[in-house]
Amino acid sequence: MNTAIIYESKHHGNTKKLVDAIARTHEVTLIDALTDGARDLSGYDLIGFASGVYGGKFGKGVLKYAQNHLPADKPVFLLYTCGSPRGSYTAAIGEIVRKKGSRVIGEYGCPGFDTFGPFKLVGGIAKGHPNAAETDGAAAFFDALPVRKQEPRE
Ligand SMILES: Cc1cc2nc3c(=O)[nH]c(=O)nc-3n(C[C@H](O)[C@H](O)[C@H](O)COP(=O)(O)O)c2cc1C
Repeated sequence: MNTAIIYESKHHGNTKKLVDAIARTHEVTLIDALTDGARDLSGYDLIGFASGVYGGKFGKGVLKYAQNHLPADKPVFLLYTCGSPRGSYTAAIGEIVRKKGSRVIGEYGCPGFDTFGPFKLVGGIAKGHPNAAETDGAAAFFDALPVRKQEPRE
């Protein structure tokens, strides 16, 4: 299954660890929303958007990428890391996906080391995250996506 993951991981590279855990064991195309140029996503069967949470949402680079480049009719999965894992941080990206005529088929989030603002003064929160169990969790989540479950392992 031809998969692309568009990611934004600008704080500590936390989200990139989730993406890399998937890429270690699967053929996926990784696209950095902040530095890689526009790509045609129409040839991908499955698309992931991955981001740290900044101000309660996915990063602007990923949101913009989805807005400008996500084709209609694609299964989409969401990955994120955040300082305080409570509440939903996927409303904005989810709305873009739906408005583009595609659909979210799953999401996975976990804590990520956070030294933003006042947290820097206390040495940060969610230290050591994502940890190995959480990066393994991202890979397991990917394996279990409904569109992938029927496939033989690559
Ligand atoms: C500018 C900024 C805003 C943030 N806003 C939130 C937030 O609203 N909620 C939250 O739980 N974490 C917030 N965080 C923490 C990040 O989501 C967390 O550290 C995440 O793992 C960063 O991912 P990255 O290293 O892949 O960029 C914020 C961090 C930064 C730098």
